[in-house]
Amino acid sequence: MDFYHLRGLDAYQQACDQAKANPSAFWEAIASQHFQWQKPWRQVVDFDFSTASFRWFDGAQLNITENCIDRHLVDKAQQTALLFEPNDPNEGSQAISYKQLHAEVCKMANVLKSQGVKKGDRVCLYMPMILELAYAVLACARIGAIHSVVFAGFSASALASRINDCGSELLITADGGFRGSKVLDLKSIVDEALTDCPKVSTVLVAKRTNNPITMQPERDLWLAELIEQADSNCPAEPMEAEDPLFILYTSGSTGQPKGMVHSCAGYMVYTAYSFKNVFQYTSGDVYWCTADIGWITGHSYIVYGPLANGATTVMFEGVPSYPDYDRFWQIIEKHGVNQFYTAPTAIRALAKHGGGIDQYDLSSLKVLGTVGEPINEEAWQWYFNKVGGGRCPIVDTWWQTETGGIMISTLAGITDYKPTFATQPLPGIQPALMDDQGPVKGNPAKGKLCFTYPWPSMARTIWGNHQRYIDTYFSDFDQAYFSGDGALRDEQGHYRITGRVDDVVIVSGHNLGTAEIEDAINTHDEIAECAIVGVAHEIKGQALYGFITVAKDAQLDAGEVQQEINQLITERVGAIAKLEWIQLVTDLPKTRSGKIMRRILRKIAEGQRDDFGD
Ligand code: WT7
Repeated sequence: MDFYHLRGLDAYQQACDQAKANPSAFWEAIASQHFQWQKPWRQVVDFDFSTASFRWFDGAQLNITENCIDRHLVDKAQQTALLFEPNDPNEGSQAISYKQLHAEVCKMANVLKSQGVKKGDRVCLYMPMILELAYAVLACARIGAIHSVVFAGFSASALASRINDCGSELLITADGGFRGSKVLDLKSIVDEALTDCPKVSTVLVAKRTNNPITMQPERDLWLAELIEQADSNCPAEPMEAEDPLFILYTSGSTGQPKGMVHSCAGYMVYTAYSFKNVFQYTSGDVYWCTADIGWITGHSYIVYGPLANGATTVMFEGVPSYPDYDRFWQIIEKHGVNQFYTAPTAIRALAKHGGGIDQYDLSSLKVLGTVGEPINEEAWQWYFNKVGGGRCPIVDTWWQTETGGIMISTLAGITDYKPTFATQPLPGIQPALMDDQGPVKGNPAKGKLCFTYPWPSMARTIWGNHQRYIDTYFSDFDQAYFSGDGALRDEQGHYRITGRVDDVVIVSGHNLGTAEIEDAINTHDEIAECAIVGVAHEIKGQALYGFITVAKDAQLDAGEVQQEINQLITERVGAIAKLEWIQLVTDLPKTRSGKIMRRILRKIAEGQRDDFGD
């Protein structure tokens, strides 16, 4: 039986049954028929929830880039792998074939080697959405270096703490990045960050914007000059199944961001399998995910999942509003995009601005995807009717940085969809809704969203802190992974995600930990205390509302406070974490043990928001 590509409801049902009855046989069938292995595994899965130890395909050897690139050279050498669409529509797009991708990745891999990078070393990437970013990710994987991509919207200090946490000695960046009408001065941010990163000895700089930058001799090197001299062949490093592939940081409800570690074999198998089934990608389709590679969505569903399937995947450098709000529709028409994957925040912004969508031919679209936060009914209907013309199934894909791949989603054209519902787990995924007594049985039900059996692409640990991994995800419930989300299940067993149950706020699809932002605010001399909560926002889904108590003798008014706080947040976390609203208060409500009562603050904030307007 072949469970890799499920083409109908019967196949889906059989896959679910088999995956439950015999998980090892299920995953073994998928792994052995659709991937290239250098050495087979001894055991499909071995796990222990109590120590949070999960091993998939143990004993196997592979290299994910052979699966994402080399094996397609036989029949797809000339097919487009990456389709780059620049920020400026007049610049013209670039189609990179699998053959070219192979050469570019090998060259970049040889550059890394020439700079002394070895298997297991961490390489930090702080780059705009340019082709070099995709090449760099794959080049690391080629030689077994562990990539740690930091989204180029993060500030110098956020970048520095991520570099130091994983101990990378080499960083790849660019002279700048185009984002709408702005030029991001990435190199200056890097220069500032590196004043706090003594271990970094080498910075490779890609050229993109040509804005003036300073190159520090001995440390900074132009990437293009090194690439020019590099060989276009580089053997793929044999990797153990459980060797780390990458680290990606995600914000938690408390403390520093967590470096989630993903490993080679399980991540490859699951991202490929989920991409194929959720989007029902077939040969020749053009697939576009609008995320940035700096987030897990970009890792799994711009780069690895699509390429493992020999797909054509679009990489867009810009933003939906530049030069105008019709940019997405223009790109869909221009490239004949078949599967389109974006976030509710973008959908709401586009619905609001209209953007002349009716003037574009969107008939190529077959599947619409959404990810990042719950999608509201109104946005869903607009997406379905206006963008999809009522013909395209919407796949509302629930997953997390930690899960590596899509866990709950409609399979396009196979299983049914329902507005605001992520619907059903993929075969092989076993969700449970928990309350204090354990799993809630029967339907309908509500509870905390957990998973009671491991899956191949789950994160294996938090870099440098396995205990924190156990405490965060495996301590609330016995024998289960706890996602941090609440959910409900309807009569038919369809899941609807209701949102985070902790202090993580999702703004425009970005996962923000309130602790990190509060830490930044607290560095202000005249601020005594603060608490940040998330409040519903028309476009962003949620936005940040800050309760601030100023020091006794402070002379600030609310306007000044907001400006100065946002400046601090921009410097220390990034502009995406700026506060939408603030309220000066004399005290914060607290429990006896001194814990701020956020539930009460959320209520107050919801009530006040409307009075404040913008
Ligand atoms: C959190 C994970 C995984 C890609 C992007 C976000 C929320 C994600 C959905 C969805 C409702 C969703 C959850 C989750 N979330 N997708 N389809 N419906 N909520 O990754 O930054 O790790 O955030 O995003 O709350 O826990 P992330």
